[in-house]
Amino acid sequence: MSRTAYVNGAYVPMNTAFVHIEDRGYQFADGVYEVVSIRRGKLIDEEAHLTRLKRSLDELRIDVPMSQAALKLIFREVIRRNRVSDALLYIQVTRGVAKRDHAFPKNIVPSLVITCRRFDFDAVKKRSKTGIKVSSQPDNRWGRCDIKSISLLPNCLAKQAAKEAGAFEALFVDTAGHVTEGSSTNMWMVDASGMLITRPTSDNILPGITRASLMKIATELQMPIEERPFSLEEAKAAKELFLTSSTSCAMPVVELDGKAIGNGSPGTVAQRLAEAYWAFMDA
Ligand code: PDD
Repeated sequence: MSRTAYVNGAYVPMNTAFVHIEDRGYQFADGVYEVVSIRRGKLIDEEAHLTRLKRSLDELRIDVPMSQAALKLIFREVIRRNRVSDALLYIQVTRGVAKRDHAFPKNIVPSLVITCRRFDFDAVKKRSKTGIKVSSQPDNRWGRCDIKSISLLPNCLAKQAAKEAGAFEALFVDTAGHVTEGSSTNMWMVDASGMLITRPTSDNILPGITRASLMKIATELQMPIEERPFSLEEAKAAKELFLTSSTSCAMPVVELDGKAIGNGSPGTVAQRLAEAYWAFMDA
């Protein structure tokens, strides 16, 4: 069955779904996006993703293409037409189409694209039992990583470098030697006392929706949390490491730059949180 995409007001087969060559997303990466997981037909944290989408648009002064209620209807129609159960929903809004000029054109209409594709969450769940490897990479991104911009070249380069180093994810490290986040994930560590530590949200990281959900779950489980930056050295010496994102959920990290974390298998805190997160996903 051919996939169906929503493109600027129409539902079209994927192989004929196109945007204009002068779309500012194509020419300047002048746009934002969201990835929402769909588990057994249910959109996970939909409201939070819509709120973050609106914030990203506002920060870049891109018009909101339509109401949240209208967006929700399109999400459901895209899911229905693609007959997916476990999937990822991708939403992209760019400033729109105009003759190439760096400054914002007047009266431009934003472009909206919504797609979804099947995604094997059971494989992610399985992977979380063994954990993944990460590789540190210099964080050379711009100063507004809190905006979910489609400008992802440093993230792609870092992920590729990590992949070539035999790792699943890149761990960005800033010039002060502190871990910022992953190329598409937020990072967490557990120290010797069992304290959960994650970097506070700021201009330097994306405020992850999974990060926020996991924080709520950890609080419910009465796990102590400290929001503070931590260094690469601390991460290497951590009792446990794990990462969060819509596509990785809560994923234990068992190796960093070739060094085993803890005893080299998923730690008890990360495992407990991963299980609680899956219970939330599967509820
Ligand atoms: N990435 N940090 C970065 C840089 C990200 O791109 C993402 C998400 C996250 C985690 O955010 P959330 O929990 O809201 O998914 C953190 C998506 C999944 C992507 O680009 O595919």
